[in-house]
Amino acid sequence: MYEQISHSLLNSILDDLKPEIRRQDLRHFYTRLGANFYAIHSLFFTLYGHRDDFKLQMLRLVETMAKGYIDRSPELEELDIQREQDHNWFLSQKWVGMALYSNGFAENLADLENKIGYFQELGINMVHIMPILMCPNGQSDGGYAISDFRQIDERVGDLEDIRRIAKEFRKRDILLVLDIVLNHTSDEHEWAQKAKMGERSFQDYYFIFENREIPDMFEQNMPEVFPQTDPGNFTWNGEMEKWVMTVFHDYQWDLNYSNPKVFIEMLDIILFWANQGVDILRLDAVAFLWKRIGSSCQNERNAHLILQLMKDCCQVTAPGVLFIAEAIVAPVEVIKYFGEDAIAAKECEIAYNATLMALIWDGVATKNTNLLYQGIKSLPNKLERATWLNYVRCHDDIGFGFDDSDIRAVGYEPKAHRRFLVNYLSGQFEGSSSRGLVFMPNEATGDARICGSLASLVGLESVLETGDEDLIALAINRILLMHAIILSFGGIPLIYNGDAIAVLNDYSYIDEPSKTNDNRWVHRPKINWEKADLRKKQGTVEYRVFNATKKMIAIRKEISAFADFNNRELLHLENEHLLCFIRFNHQRPSEKVLVIANFDANPQYLSLEPLRTVGFNSYSKFVDLYTGIKPEQCDSRIILQGYQFYWLTET
Ligand code: GLC
Ligand code: GLC
Repeated sequence: MYEQISHSLLNSILDDLKPEIRRQDLRHFYTRLGANFYAIHSLFFTLYGHRDDFKLQMLRLVETMAKGYIDRSPELEELDIQREQDHNWFLSQKWVGMALYSNGFAENLADLENKIGYFQELGINMVHIMPILMCPNGQSDGGYAISDFRQIDERVGDLEDIRRIAKEFRKRDILLVLDIVLNHTSDEHEWAQKAKMGERSFQDYYFIFENREIPDMFEQNMPEVFPQTDPGNFTWNGEMEKWVMTVFHDYQWDLNYSNPKVFIEMLDIILFWANQGVDILRLDAVAFLWKRIGSSCQNERNAHLILQLMKDCCQVTAPGVLFIAEAIVAPVEVIKYFGEDAIAAKECEIAYNATLMALIWDGVATKNTNLLYQGIKSLPNKLERATWLNYVRCHDDIGFGFDDSDIRAVGYEPKAHRRFLVNYLSGQFEGSSSRGLVFMPNEATGDARICGSLASLVGLESVLETGDEDLIALAINRILLMHAIILSFGGIPLIYNGDAIAVLNDYSYIDEPSKTNDNRWVHRPKINWEKADLRKKQGTVEYRVFNATKKMIAIRKEISAFADFNNRELLHLENEHLLCFIRFNHQRPSEKVLVIANFDANPQYLSLEPLRTVGFNSYSKFVDLYTGIKPEQCDSRIILQGYQFYWLTET
């Protein structure tokens, strides 16, 4: 029944399409539209079917997809077809990512282009260039407050630069990732300006209220993202004399997706960037997309419907383009961003694995892997054709968002344990050499998060000051251990700018008025390329970290068992300092790699017994893929030195 409705609607829409759209050769487009239209119509109807202008908006939606398709270059269309045929392409172990600010990694986009060689030297073939779009001059939340979704910020370059970079990347088989900030615009965006001038139709793009009545209802259940600097979720605007919903900073106005025009505008922007040659779009803050009084306004079912609709529409126009969900939410929630009730991913193909990230930091702070095991076990299974983005650091703070029940299951009290983690990583805990900064402590809830560069958080900054070579070696090993895990866990590893050369905290943000209140800037470094050149000088910290990372990356790419096909098995050992899992080749399960990581500073031992159950019967055949030699043994046990890891295989 429903299907007939959607078919007749599709026919009438096709009749109504503008002549210039109808005249084009849209063969592939129509095939895909036909295949996806039932889903698109159902979703669009669920979200907007109650509106009088539903049919008109549906027509606009189809026009937007068609226009996007007409603008897509033959080269990109060719790539779409290739990727449709090889639809698991991104699950391969060959991909290794890096995230950076163009003006932190380089001077600007043009200079980044000069430094592509660095990616190739390290083995990086997926580059997430963080926000480059027009944004306010002073505070802009690191570019995540966007004033024009189609203009590049002139401080970093122009559209030509990014087109050239996209081309150059493609030549070298490097994927380009850019952000789409779906949830909000800056208050300088044209839509916000028009809203401020009183234009009703643009006020309807946002959540704008005459008085506090509705904002107060929302506030009852909405947490605060930046409680210290931006308490509350609404901001008074003097020009309109109205309240605006601003979940993040007061200059970031939340978009209202209950308005179909907002959806269509944002789809148009997604397709615009897809057509500039972007391979993967990182959809920012997706958990926040739908607001409902009485809810926390995060992870709402309609937020998922919006993403499913975005995916379905993007698949019609630019099916080769993937989405990354940036949803830093509880494990049971994050898994839903791959899509629910489906076999293959229907929302985002890739999602940030914030759970693993936080668990690895837990392991570093506690020196044991109890919570790591518990947390990994409770991480629900992914859908097929979905993968994680595994990372240890990014441009944001570290939040300890694992489940309370997991923390309790391993014998800690959740509040006290989180406090311990914050104290440990900010160096306040006795014996901790971490140099993290506490981010956004919330007095009301007791929550806090942590900022700091990977190297400073693992203690390198403070032990370098002591000059103690043993401690320096341990700190370096901690960095390598963490990278070894994200490189072998299953998913796309994402290395953060500076972490492959152990860049320390950068305190210069304190003197910059637009940054001083946001200590995330401590870990958004400007790379000093003279210092980075030390990666070529034997014995330096940069050399040791860079070359070890480079080697791990090169090895990862050769090991099919490291591709992500739900081919990981967690292995319990008696030793609580070790993490151990097996990766096997999903096509040839006998091809296995045993990953073992020691989270303690002291040597730890592993007996063969627990390994027999998974088919490893003798040490004599073991070889470590990373060092190329047999693992060290003592009394028929394998030894792992402080913070050592093994990638063992059988010869
Ligand atoms: C994402 C970004 C973060 C930003 C927020 C609001 O979480 O990673 O940097 O502050 O969205 O746009
Ligand atoms: C986003 C992330 C959250 C982060 C915040 C600011 O909301 O979900 O984890 O703390 O942005 O960085």
